[in-house]
Amino acid sequence: MTRPNPSAIALRKLDFFAGMPDEHLRLVAQVARLRRFRPGQVVIEENSPADTFFIIRSGGVRISKRLETGEEMFLAEEGRGGFFGEMALLDEGPRSATARALEPTSLLEISRNDFKVLLDQAPLLAYAMMRVLSTRLRGTGALMVAELQRKNRELAEAYRDTITAVVNTLEARDSYTRGHTGRVTLIAKAIAAHMGLTDEDLYIIEIGALLHDVGKIGVTDAILRKPGPLDSKEYEEILEHPAKGRNILSSIGYLEKMIPCVLHHHERYDGSGYPERLAGADIPLPGRIISVADAFDAMTSDRPYRSSMPVRRALAELRRGAGRQFDPKVVRAFLSVWRKGRLAGQLKRGQ
Ligand SMILES: [Fe+2]
Repeated sequence: MTRPNPSAIALRKLDFFAGMPDEHLRLVAQVARLRRFRPGQVVIEENSPADTFFIIRSGGVRISKRLETGEEMFLAEEGRGGFFGEMALLDEGPRSATARALEPTSLLEISRNDFKVLLDQAPLLAYAMMRVLSTRLRGTGALMVAELQRKNRELAEAYRDTITAVVNTLEARDSYTRGHTGRVTLIAKAIAAHMGLTDEDLYIIEIGALLHDVGKIGVTDAILRKPGPLDSKEYEEILEHPAKGRNILSSIGYLEKMIPCVLHHHERYDGSGYPERLAGADIPLPGRIISVADAFDAMTSDRPYRSSMPVRRALAELRRGAGRQFDPKVVRAFLSVWRKGRLAGQLKRGQ
């Protein structure tokens, strides 16, 4: 139902127009149309053409947006004196959200053309309105960003859970390496955090460490579980696991960033490692970090061909290998994390 001319006096009662001179309110009253909506009725619909905006005279609306997943995201509720649809004043693009009346609701509708008239005849009024609108737009933008960040976090957690489940299945093949991946991940993350890496890099290292030996999927059980020393052919097959891991990850777009973790965790700082014999800073940092974490856990766990080494000796081995097998900076970071004592407790709990 549409009815023209709300009175200037009625407008004065709304926060939106508080402090505006009477002649400006009379102008608004001339251009604004009064519209009423039943509870649940759609006022504006997402993706429909936008050429008006609304100020709530009484009642209230719920504003929501449909996500790509089909889920409806709640953005805001607006009550008396609130406004919505303001993007139409700035942009001719389609509506970015849907607004539904929450109760019997009466709205003032102002079109983009009306707003141009106001801009022309009462620039101060138009600017004052634009100021209110721009403050609000910033608020809505912040809300959208916060919501997208929340969704991203949820997605990252879902990926982590899925990958952990796959890795656990993989580890179940070999009782000797059970828990190894989880411990390597804890250690690598602690080193990376100590070195001051960004949250994004920490996440890459966490997922990369979980997947560092995923290429062993392609190594036969007979070799993986062999208690004695490997012959040269079997050893060659083991040497292929970083490249096999890279091949698996490269078919999954989301995991491409984790490839350096998987491909380079057996490079050695002096260039004598595999698969690409990279040396020093040419080895991607995540590879250098996982290499230290992997070696420490391997030394301190039982393996089919030998029993575990005491922690003190393993730490001495890392120090001895700094500059040869390992990046000295990474070894130093690990040693200072280890000295703090928390990591040992975490590793025990993770077993
Ligand atoms: Fe490995």
